Amino acid sequence: APGEPFDNEPDTDWSLPSNTAWVRRLMREEKERMIEHIPLSISSDRITSNIVGIGRDPSQPGKESYQFSYVAYEHIPQLLDTAQEAAKTWGKKSVKERSAILHKAAAELSRMRGRLIAAMVRDTAKSPAEADVEASEAIDFCRYYADGLTRPGMEDGASFTPLGVLCVSSPWNFPCAIPCGGIAAALMAGNAVIFKPSPASVYVASLVRKAFLEAGVPEAALQFAPTLPNEIGQKLLSSPQIGGIILTGSYATASLFHQWAPDRPVFGETSGKDSIIITALADREQAIRDLVKSAFGHSGQKCSAASIAIVEASVYDDPRFMAQLMDAAASLKVGPAWEADSVIVPLTRRPGDDLVRALTKLDAGESWLLEPKQQGDNVRHWSPGIRIGVQPGSWFHQTECFGPVLGIIRAENLEQAISIQNGTAYGLTGGICSLDEREIALWKSKVQVGNAYINRPITGAIVRRQPFGGWKRSCVGPGAKAGGPNYLAMFGTWKETALPR
Ligand code: SER
Repeated sequence: APGEPFDNEPDTDWSLPSNTAWVRRLMREEKERMIEHIPLSISSDRITSNIVGIGRDPSQPGKESYQFSYVAYEHIPQLLDTAQEAAKTWGKKSVKERSAILHKAAAELSRMRGRLIAAMVRDTAKSPAEADVEASEAIDFCRYYADGLTRPGMEDGASFTPLGVLCVSSPWNFPCAIPCGGIAAALMAGNAVIFKPSPASVYVASLVRKAFLEAGVPEAALQFAPTLPNEIGQKLLSSPQIGGIILTGSYATASLFHQWAPDRPVFGETSGKDSIIITALADREQAIRDLVKSAFGHSGQKCSAASIAIVEASVYDDPRFMAQLMDAAASLKVGPAWEADSVIVPLTRRPGDDLVRALTKLDAGESWLLEPKQQGDNVRHWSPGIRIGVQPGSWFHQTECFGPVLGIIRAENLEQAISIQNGTAYGLTGGICSLDEREIALWKSKVQVGNAYINRPITGAIVRRQPFGGWKRSCVGPGAKAGGPNYLAMFGTWKETALPR
């Protein structure tokens, strides 16, 4: 309830043999499960469209896993009208009622935890351990927002008016937690939702919707609408019946949505090119552990991932440091997501041009400390790579690649390292490894990122403890942080009422 301490949902303890046996059973069951065609859902209508998408298991990319329906032109009026009607009724429910439903959704997600983990493994090749953390975050988002309408004026309906219909456009790299966050926030603030999941994770998305419906969210207030980013997507999002778009995706996608709906807010958590500074005063072994975890967790497919390390000269020039870093990365287990201890899992999608370049080509001054290798004939599966000699301002320093490649830049001193860290278009996460308080204080005052991490990994923000969101091109729109106190207030308009003096 509001005002009470908030306890984060605990992750599964993998040191217990009963839990590892549980996950092995989940994997066996999931492999045998047949998934029926996943239809669009407009209110309670299940619609099979003639634009069919194919879901694939990235660990076995040749194999079709399931089929699903995309929104076609003819569905758009019904989608929008139904959502608009639903918004009226849902928005009139009391805050208490909406909160109770979201708490039930959290309980439902918790009950479905094993199913969600297995679905993430199958749909996106997320490892069970990473998927487990994501399930906790999804539950946290629901509980945290359920008690979040505490600002005066939000309760009585007189000062706060929901935006109406919000489109939640969610990514494939966090296919469960991120849509749960957007949906829970939009609903709690009294909006209806058109849920437009990434085409690469429709199966997980269908389970997420199921959890909210089981909890009592009316079907029409949470419609299921996988949509391609083509003219059909444009027609849907540019409609004045959409009150705003909650997007986690690339900066390019956010810019496109903004063009399509210029007079509506786009609440975008967007791209990153995140880095960790390692100074001469760092605990080097700890720095390597934190760097490797941040760079290669989920094969680097996180907007928060460390893609660059900026290493002070005396550490960079120490061959022992480089050898230990190489060993640490080379010892990560490369394997299919179906094996519980795999860290370097197949990429969810076929690598695009930038990632192929990052995995295969060096620029002037660069060499491989560890050269990435394609695994067999799976173009999506690569062992980890480390490029050294990356130059400030170079292509790799500036470009988000979203895969298992880390670049190392040498810096003369901390001042220079900070200017290299700030020298990209983005500002999502950033870290420093240093045991010196003066260095940390200087860094904190200068670093241009939304989430600044000291002597720890730079991924894995936890709801309420590390509200998450960026600066610069890592953010589009008003930019209140997800999992933080100001988030819900963005999803409505505010009215100040003055009495006679
Ligand atoms: N919130 C995630 C993290 O902190 C990224 O989206 O890693």
